Amino acid sequence: MRAVRWHGKKDVRVDTVPDPEIVNPRDAIVRVTSTAICGSDLHLYNGMIPTMQAGDILGHEFMGEIVALGSSVGNLQIGDRVVVPFTIACGQCFFCEKTLTSLCDNSNPADNQDIAEALMGHSPSALFGYSHMLGGYAGGQAEFVRVPFADTGCFKVPAHLSDDQVLFLSDILPTGWMAAENADIERGDTVAVWGAGPVGQFAIRSAFLMGAERIIAIDHRPGRLALAAEAGAETIDFETVDVMAALAETTGGRGPDRCIDAVGMEAHGLAIDNIADRTKQAVGLATDRPHVLRQAIVACRKGGTISMPGVYGGLVDKLPMGAFVNKGLTLKTGQTHVHRYMQPLLARIESGEIKPDVIISHRLPLEDAPGAYDDFLNRQDEFTKVVLQL
Ligand SMILES: NC(=O)c1ccc[n+]([C@@H]2O[C@H](COP(=O)([O-])OP(=O)(O)OC[C@H]3O[C@@H](n4cnc5c(N)ncnc54)[C@H](O)[C@@H]3O)[C@@H](O)[C@H]2O)c1
Ligand SMILES: [Zn+2]
Ligand SMILES: [Zn+2]
Repeated sequence: MRAVRWHGKKDVRVDTVPDPEIVNPRDAIVRVTSTAICGSDLHLYNGMIPTMQAGDILGHEFMGEIVALGSSVGNLQIGDRVVVPFTIACGQCFFCEKTLTSLCDNSNPADNQDIAEALMGHSPSALFGYSHMLGGYAGGQAEFVRVPFADTGCFKVPAHLSDDQVLFLSDILPTGWMAAENADIERGDTVAVWGAGPVGQFAIRSAFLMGAERIIAIDHRPGRLALAAEAGAETIDFETVDVMAALAETTGGRGPDRCIDAVGMEAHGLAIDNIADRTKQAVGLATDRPHVLRQAIVACRKGGTISMPGVYGGLVDKLPMGAFVNKGLTLKTGQTHVHRYMQPLLARIESGEIKPDVIISHRLPLEDAPGAYDDFLNRQDEFTKVVLQL
């Protein structure tokens, strides 16, 4: 089959590789019909995530049709059309029983758990196509993919909805939703959202549904800010406006009630702290650039909440912990517990309340993946979201 493989920093190729096979009784093989490139894939593309190996198959946002099933999968049939959550979860462990599926104890194989435990104390769930520390599973930017724990990891979708309408249930729609949920929004709140990428876009739309009165989107890509404005957000271009002064002014000095960091470890911009982080990264002295998290902590109103869907990879420094503690802030974060949100968000798609396909800017064949990665990184204004179609 053809598959998108990581060969090193900024080196992604479409190669011919062996087809996946059923390994365990709870597996399914899915023939992929649509798969997307995520902002998280850019962290891999930029070589920021440890334990990638040359030849790893990428992709964790995908859907398709079941073409083979393990002997113990009783709730699926060959031919079912399914969306697959990017977090791999057993459905039975302590964490899965609490619907904390991105923290599943069983999906990351033991050897890989050892690496994760050394870095993080404990291993989260495995993810598709996202390093050996997080499972080493082949991803879904491919013609076929093996889905472990398919009985909980394949979500059936109705035939009358198109791939474009349901594909993002795999990741970024639940991620935007959980980001808003984690922000503890109360009716009438003002919410600041850093990053108007796909995650920020869905966080904005979800926050309005949860009762936010004002949302302020911060980015430096005019096209993405325009998309946020279409959803009703006010916008700040951080290249031309002083973000901290603007947030203070527009909230009468109090600060936004809720702050969402939908940027993560690779903040852009020429702020002095970000330049220092970038320099340290370049010589291997730092893993992350937490400029946005710093801004969010200082900007947030006293007693407010910071929600952080943006991914961080390692250690961060110069965090204003004094402000965090003395202002009594709350921080909530995590890889998304995708399984928990698929059914309720599908219902909102069916009712027309959420229209996930509005963020798609490009639909391209799988063979175009190398150029699509490059464009999604370097031409972010035009390339809001790329779907690879098979
Ligand atoms: N928690 C999860 O489960 C989960 C799931 C999916 C994605 N993510 C993470 O969410 C983040 C966003 O994902 P995405 O797909 O939207 O990525 P993306 O790269 O498409 O978008 C990020 C946006 O942030 C903007 N940005 C950069 N620096 C900024 C700054 N200083 N201030 C304001 N905006 C800034 C960029 O211009 C860009 O538009 C990534 O870190 C990704 O890894 C997390
Ligand atoms: Zn993703
Ligand atoms: Zn589990």
